[in-house]
Amino acid sequence: MAVDSKWLLEQFQEVFGSYLKDGLWISQAPGRVNLIGEHTDYSGGFVFPVAIGHNVAIVFKPRTDRVVRLYSCDYRQMSEFCLDEIHTSTDAPWSNFFRGVAWALGAYESPDRGSGESEDIDNTLSLGRNNRELRGLDAVISGDVPIGAGLSSSAAFEVASAFALLVAKGTDPIILNSFESECGLKVRREIAVACQKAENLFVGVSCGIMDQMTSCMGRAGHGIYLDCRSPRHEPVRLGLDDRDVTIVVYDTGIRRGLVSSEYNRRRQEVETGAKMIAGILGQSDIHSLRDVELATFEAVREMLPPEVARRCEHVVKENERVKNAVVALGRGDLLAFADLMRKSHESLRDLYEVSCPELDVAVKLACEIGGVLGARVTGAGFGGCTVNLVRNDALNDLILALPRSPLRPGALEPRAFAIDVVDGARIAEL
Ligand code: GLA
Repeated sequence: MAVDSKWLLEQFQEVFGSYLKDGLWISQAPGRVNLIGEHTDYSGGFVFPVAIGHNVAIVFKPRTDRVVRLYSCDYRQMSEFCLDEIHTSTDAPWSNFFRGVAWALGAYESPDRGSGESEDIDNTLSLGRNNRELRGLDAVISGDVPIGAGLSSSAAFEVASAFALLVAKGTDPIILNSFESECGLKVRREIAVACQKAENLFVGVSCGIMDQMTSCMGRAGHGIYLDCRSPRHEPVRLGLDDRDVTIVVYDTGIRRGLVSSEYNRRRQEVETGAKMIAGILGQSDIHSLRDVELATFEAVREMLPPEVARRCEHVVKENERVKNAVVALGRGDLLAFADLMRKSHESLRDLYEVSCPELDVAVKLACEIGGVLGARVTGAGFGGCTVNLVRNDALNDLILALPRSPLRPGALEPRAFAIDVVDGARIAEL
């Protein structure tokens, strides 16, 4: 998979009538599948996603002025703006992710610490947060991360946009492409935070940091064990090939209609829960559910309104599951890992209430197959995808067992596909 760079270059040449390859760049950033740790990131908790071989790619040429011209090959639409005046677009809403990133790279000075996330972010401007330094560019964009499916097409677009804008203003691409150096990782972390701010404050979705961090920090063959509060991460080898196991995504074709309002509501519910628990215990050092141990939660559970208690129970126990899943992987115990995935799904279904009947059926059908180790909803939920850990000899059985015709009126055709676990974003001269 992944966008064909030769094709995208041709698109650039056609759209901008510029046939020289000189000075052209390609910026690419992957989507993600979360293996476990759902709806924990915005409480400063733990997640364990992988970057996938589906990405958003931008072929671009830096300009000398401050004009940005973007052409989306997928929406077949041009959108233009000037870096001196960055507004949201109603005609081309897809362009708001790029606009937001341009805005965030320059506009905000200090991270918002409201939710207990991003606590020790080093805000020492290594990105040069000065909008005046940004340069315009001409760009064509395309992606093969399914949109609205819970695989983070928006984060992939944001991160690819940030890489493009930074190279256009002269940031060293060697630093941007480095996963090994402290400096490279620091820049990637700052890019992830800026992209999250773009989505929170410019686009208006209160997402956590998981998707942007995964798109920046993903490593081939590794899960990213991410502490969303710091946000520090550790790549953990999955070792799936050694065990003839593949990750299969099943896209139900159901797009998440009202997801952002439901999503924002869940976020508010757990923030309320954390405040109530802090109030009951008289502990001002509880800033988010990350600060609440399971035993503490059990002690106050009955004092919380039932719905808030269910939401909090999910988050507190899901954080434990992520830690246990990483330990299980460390001892090569994929069965224990997969069992935690199943428990995560049950909790998202019954306590957090972000699943839907079609996702539940897909998980149930998958788990009935002998060679399927585990399955669960992945991403925000309310539709979108399930993620399955499957032995290679059961791949066909799984694909045959999952429904292939639209599951609801108006839904897309569902499809199952194996994914590659890849490195995070990169940029190259064409
Ligand atoms: C969306 C958000 C993430 C995360 C997940 C749920 O993908 O963008 O930040 O909250 O939902 O785990």
